[in-house]
Amino acid sequence: MSERFDAVDVIITKRGRGELSDAQIDWVIDAYTRGAVADEQMSSLAMAILLNGMNRREISRWTAAMIASGERMDFSSLSRPTADKHSTGGVGDKITLPLAPLVAACGVAVPQLSGRGLGHTGGTLDKLESVPGWRAALSNDEMMRQLEDVGAVICAAGDGLAPADKKLYALRDVTGTVEAIPLIASSIMSKKIAEGTGALVLDVKVGSGAFMKTVEDARELARTMVDLGTDAGVNTVALLTNMQVPLGLTAGNALEVRESVEVLAGGGPEDVVELTLALAREMLAAAGRDDIDPADALKDGRAMDAWKSMIRAQGGDPDAELPVAKETHEVLVPADGVLTELDALKVGVAAWRLGAGRARKEDPVQAGAGVEMHAKPGATVRAGEKLLTLHTDTPERFERALESLDGAFTIAPEGSRPDLLPLVIEKIS
Ligand code: URA
Repeated sequence: MSERFDAVDVIITKRGRGELSDAQIDWVIDAYTRGAVADEQMSSLAMAILLNGMNRREISRWTAAMIASGERMDFSSLSRPTADKHSTGGVGDKITLPLAPLVAACGVAVPQLSGRGLGHTGGTLDKLESVPGWRAALSNDEMMRQLEDVGAVICAAGDGLAPADKKLYALRDVTGTVEAIPLIASSIMSKKIAEGTGALVLDVKVGSGAFMKTVEDARELARTMVDLGTDAGVNTVALLTNMQVPLGLTAGNALEVRESVEVLAGGGPEDVVELTLALAREMLAAAGRDDIDPADALKDGRAMDAWKSMIRAQGGDPDAELPVAKETHEVLVPADGVLTELDALKVGVAAWRLGAGRARKEDPVQAGAGVEMHAKPGATVRAGEKLLTLHTDTPERFERALESLDGAFTIAPEGSRPDLLPLVIEKIS
């Protein structure tokens, strides 16, 4: 079949800092999905975009073309409004687990299509798969039924949703082109818009454990995504939040499920509770229900009931014992003082090397592996106390995990204070 454009011309346009036309963008996404544009051509175009950027019209068209490459879901027949949350990914970021049932318990349905972890950030599906019996794959009909009956679904995105993104994301991953703001924004938003949620709250992470290392970059990514959502008729807001330090006291699949259940039971680490409530408030407001205070549903057990229903609906046993790793290794506090730094990236890499994450898409993960933290920045600590517990089924992994923790924490003299961004840095709407 003869093609409307030549891939080389499209690449050269962007290489020369030119604007791609709507027709060029529609063609290149479609032709790449069909295999008429080769991987090496798309990777060259992705690099040109990373170096030279795209304007608002180009990003919007690129996103629309990726949505058009697959199916679109529609939840408008549900009896309640829908809201979803997307996090750009971080260490110990288990917030989806308590958040989805909490928002459902407040009367807004949450259709969460999630992914698996790659690299040092964990995947929500990997975490939930540590619950005995729980299954990630649901048909569209099962998803609709569960949204109506329980109000919350966390499941794997089917192959039909934005297939262009699936192919392009895998290519970016191996060509050094993940960190382009237009490509990250269009990748995330094409899936969220195709998913069909009515409202969307974006948790854009900032710090060592996140894609975006500075507030300025995170702000630009958030602004780009909020504009894309708004242009597509999805009520979208973003919170920039701290990922200099891991969230909560655990990083690793079953360890994070355990901590999430503690939050649903009314306890859990302060930062996890605070961020869960902040995001729940934004989701409820974006869905038109700012009259509801989610703190009540967390306190009175309604969120826990919704969690149990959500887990059972997908074959899981919410009361079963969670898997525990076979071996542990303690890292002790080296000196008296104040813990002022605990680096998110280093802790995330340690959890990954212990077996909580995967290096290749097809690798298995260990349910019990990860890092447990016994103190967070700001805490006064004493020499010889436990600082971290490393968990794994395969003790030969301890050495590499410990290497990645080199320089991960700082103990400063008593009276010192950590110099950290606030947990919720700002809101973009
Ligand atoms: N997550 C995505 O889905 N896409 C990106 O490009 C980056 C993070």
